[in-house]
Amino acid sequence: MAYRMRVLGVYGSPRRDGNTDLLLNQFLKGANESGHKIERIYVRELKILPCLACGECEKTGECIICDDMDIIYKAFINTECLVLTSPIYFYSVTAQIKTLIDRCQALWYKRKISNNNNFRPAFFISVAGTKGKKVFEGAMLTVRCFLNAIGFRLKNCWLYPGFDAKGEIEKHPDILSKIYSAGKNLI
Ligand SMILES: Cc1cc2nc3c(=O)[nH]c(=O)nc-3n(C[C@H](O)[C@H](O)[C@H](O)COP(=O)(O)O)c2cc1C
Repeated sequence: MAYRMRVLGVYGSPRRDGNTDLLLNQFLKGANESGHKIERIYVRELKILPCLACGECEKTGECIICDDMDIIYKAFINTECLVLTSPIYFYSVTAQIKTLIDRCQALWYKRKISNNNNFRPAFFISVAGTKGKKVFEGAMLTVRCFLNAIGFRLKNCWLYPGFDAKGEIEKHPDILSKIYSAGKNLI
């Protein structure tokens, strides 16, 4: 029997049932039907403070702030595969995802302190309202750097420009089935 993984889906949009939500639902549906163990985190439901740059995590690998980031730390440490989503906001990821990313500085130090050089597979799904030539460039730089820092390798990404209205992507069954298959095969 094929090896089944723990797959964590991170919903990065503040808009419930928006385009990135719908795509991640498809990916996780596929992964679930292949027998993988699915966990979902809706970042918009969490209370996460921004990084204070206090420097404490540099010594311990732990963040001194006590908030819902604890849920994220545990989930990121335990998962074997990460699927991150964020729509494009001002050529970058959403404030919710960027706040989470900055707080993962603690995980970066934790890896350094424990000399952990393992990398796990990760995927990124994004949607932008416009079709600007460079519309995903800022987010891709941030996401790649972030994933590497906390021990993931970006295996694939799906970037859909030109979808602005809530749920508009649902009118494109070809896109939904592509993401469903990607989740089914984790490729
Ligand atoms: C605050 C804000 C900033 C945005 N910035 C951009 C942008 O820089 N470029 C772009 O193409 N779309 C931008 N958009 C549009 C979103 O990327 C688009 O509506 C997307 O479909 C939202 O995904 P969601 O439905 O998963 O929330 C922005 C939307 C908001 C609310």
